[in-house]
Amino acid sequence: MKIAFFDSGVGGLSVLHHAMKALPEEQFVFFADEDHVPYGVKEKEQVLQYVDEAFRFLMTQDVKAIVVACNTATSVAAAEMRRKYEIPIIGMEPAVKQAMDLYGNRRVLVTATPITLRGEKMRMLMEQLNRERLIDRLPLPRLVDFAEHQEFRSPEVKSYLEQAFSPYDFSQFSSVVLGCTHFNYFKDSMRELLPEHVRFVDGNAGTVHELIRRLKERDALEHLPQTVTCFYSGREVRDAAELSRLQAYMGRLEEMYTIG
Ligand code: DGL
Repeated sequence: MKIAFFDSGVGGLSVLHHAMKALPEEQFVFFADEDHVPYGVKEKEQVLQYVDEAFRFLMTQDVKAIVVACNTATSVAAAEMRRKYEIPIIGMEPAVKQAMDLYGNRRVLVTATPITLRGEKMRMLMEQLNRERLIDRLPLPRLVDFAEHQEFRSPEVKSYLEQAFSPYDFSQFSSVVLGCTHFNYFKDSMRELLPEHVRFVDGNAGTVHELIRRLKERDALEHLPQTVTCFYSGREVRDAAELSRLQAYMGRLEEMYTIG
């Protein structure tokens, strides 16, 4: 059986990229809801409906677990999907706790989509972790569109980030949390704007770790030749140009992998 990775778009590839290294003998399904991306600026009810449709489709694909490789979809719909389905559903949330555990006494900037930052999960995280008021929240919704258009290094990207980061005195910060899977593509562009001591923290390793734990628990790990089947909103991607588009994202992620 296969492991599904679901996202509104190409952000989920950053989690899949990680999983492919950690699980070289598993078969993957990658579902990008390209018909409906972006999620992060839409109404919650609308996103819930998109996730519901995607899950119904994924359940026909012989999957043994679904990774919601999207902080926004997790915040809106993971609990509901867990009520509906019995297979392991692994969600993502901005890795604020990880950042605080690593560098607790300095400020942390949490970047994510507007939905994620407004959501109940985030409210709970803030309640638990922000007693000393060291956490700032910054929505960066345009990065999702830039990523979908493979625009990572343009002057527009740079000036968007420059402006977004300008209110912060980064000498006070230990880290920037990448709380949206689309943001992993911009580590080099961000790096140029941040002092060297500021680290990136994302939830990719933790999510894959949890996936492996859940599969082991069910004795569901396999030894198969690794494959990845990709879908855009339920349509299998077979077109050579689209397959090479996805390949280019994986290449970009490999480049970003070493930027900490
Ligand atoms: N990649 C998604 C996340 O992790 C959301 C992007 C979107 O706005 O669709 O939050």
